Amino acid sequence: MEDELKRLEQEAAAEIDALDSSSLESFRVKFLGRKGLFSTVMRQLGQVPKEDRPRLGQLANVIKHNIEERFEQKSVEISTPSSASGASEDLSLPGRSVPFGKLHPVTQVMEEICSIFEGMGFAVAEGPDVELDRYNFEALNIPEHHPARDMHDTFYVSDSILLRTHTSPMQARIMEAQDPPLRYIAPGKVYRCDSDITHTPMFHQVEGFLVDRNVSFADLKGVLTSFTQKMFNDDLVLRFRPSFFPFTEPSAEVDIACVICGGSGCRVCKRTGWLEILGAGLIDPEVLKMVGYDPDVYSGFAFGLGVERIAMLKYGIDDIRLFYENDLRFLEQF
Ligand code: DAH
Repeated sequence: MEDELKRLEQEAAAEIDALDSSSLESFRVKFLGRKGLFSTVMRQLGQVPKEDRPRLGQLANVIKHNIEERFEQKSVEISTPSSASGASEDLSLPGRSVPFGKLHPVTQVMEEICSIFEGMGFAVAEGPDVELDRYNFEALNIPEHHPARDMHDTFYVSDSILLRTHTSPMQARIMEAQDPPLRYIAPGKVYRCDSDITHTPMFHQVEGFLVDRNVSFADLKGVLTSFTQKMFNDDLVLRFRPSFFPFTEPSAEVDIACVICGGSGCRVCKRTGWLEILGAGLIDPEVLKMVGYDPDVYSGFAFGLGVERIAMLKYGIDDIRLFYENDLRFLEQF
């Protein structure tokens, strides 16, 4: 019986090592159950000589206790998932992907606009969003009570301080600080008290200007044609329409052939075949004089374009507010 007990102990120990969650219960029944191997051996205790019974009984108890203890331990080990065991991990599964952020479409278009002008030799300058009335209006030939102020729907901070309504004040700031020749663009946020499907209270503009000797309207046309063709497509046609801005003379609004219908007329271009994309002109001699330049020596051109407007035309977006609703389904398309 002693040999049988020891064999049982060895057999149980070997099986315990190989146990998994599906074989736990069958092991328990086989070795520790009421009709299990251990009970079967124990039943022989009645047949061994009397003097051997206490010793064999004690040995049997020790061995049973050992098996039970190891079985308990193994059960706990199996039911607690540990990364070290790796038993339930499928190493062939693909890793979890980390979501990537992206640049906002307005930022992307802004960067594209800037890089096109940088390629033509323009330097980039940024100015303050909170601006002095002096730079936003006065220095641009828009004195107090000038009717052009009405178009700007200005947010005032105080009588002389406001949120800039356009990026044109950078013309005055840069010209005031430097002498020609100058070739700058000024990208940034602008603010107007206006909101509907084509207006948001904050939007983005890129102002551009060039001052040197003998700058003509032909130079302006060349730069803007080159820019729009790079931005949209190589054989895009431009149209310059006479217009008025207090800081340019002559002034023009520039249209491009509709990027949706190619000029034949559609809903987007309101059947005209043209889409307005920017304002431009030759810098008014009054503006040059105010920064101390001699308009008989220097001349220049300037232009201002709306970044959201260009992004809308480029991507066929019909509501400007989509840019600022932070809906990932919209933003992830760019
Ligand atoms: N500042 C004008 C606006 O916001 C845009 C503009 C028009 C800028 C003509 C210019 C320009 O430099 O020449 O409406």
